[in-house]
Amino acid sequence: MKFASSGSRYLADRSALSERYGPRELWEIVDHWPLYVGVGNLARYLAIGELLRTTLSVPGDLAEFGVWRGSTSMLLTKILKIVDPQGPKVVHSFDAFQGLTEFAPQDGDATAQAGRYKGSLEEYQDLIELYQFQDDIEIHEGLIEQTVPAFVAERPEIMFSFVYCDTDLYESTAVVLEHIAPRVMPGGLIVFDEWNYSNFPGEGLAANEFLAAHREEFVVEAPPNTRQPSLALRRRA
Ligand SMILES: C[S@@+](CC[C@H](N)C(=O)[O-])C[C@H]1O[C@@H](n2cnc3c(N)ncnc32)[C@H](O)[C@@H]1O
Repeated sequence: MKFASSGSRYLADRSALSERYGPRELWEIVDHWPLYVGVGNLARYLAIGELLRTTLSVPGDLAEFGVWRGSTSMLLTKILKIVDPQGPKVVHSFDAFQGLTEFAPQDGDATAQAGRYKGSLEEYQDLIELYQFQDDIEIHEGLIEQTVPAFVAERPEIMFSFVYCDTDLYESTAVVLEHIAPRVMPGGLIVFDEWNYSNFPGEGLAANEFLAAHREEFVVEAPPNTRQPSLALRRRA
């Protein structure tokens, strides 16, 4: 797989560096984040920011499906604080905070990753409080297969400008596409973190099936200068 050998070399080298200089106080690291962030990770966050900026004139909320520790929902919220501080957009974070648990046959060997990416709802809530984002982020805790249909039934008026799919798995992605995609406004984006990604085939398969059925409604875009996210679908105006 492309980047596999350079990726594992980088992980080994950074562990050695951390042994030599760590541990450090958390915020001392955070405040110097460009020193420590990997180029792939930086490219990912810059690409997400660029995609978000293309949707700022589109009305509607933002949603992330598969939140893990909350980094991407936080990034989206902090960017909105900078570029749209008076706007009405809310970031919806959907996760069961249990890691990968719901596998379908389409997920193939991803079952070997069961339990990976278990987040901490408590830590995410503490960070939301630290930045006083309680009115900016809504957390929807639980399995997406249950929370998403219940959410759209409760909020029949809700529409989105930016949707980030990152559960890695088939069934949850298919549920998001069934219930949330019809609520993406013209010009709005559905972004996939793991499209065409052999370790987690299910997310891409769900995206491909959706695209085959709705091809005329969306324009396919490649996220800029990053390996992940790997696909964006923009609803035609
Ligand atoms: C790869 S991580 C998400 C990473 C995150 N988007 C980020 O940018 O840091 C996948 C997440 O999807 C969540 N997840 C997977 N399947 C789910 C399901 N069926 N319902 C709810 N959450 C699910 C896991 O708990 C995990 O937090």
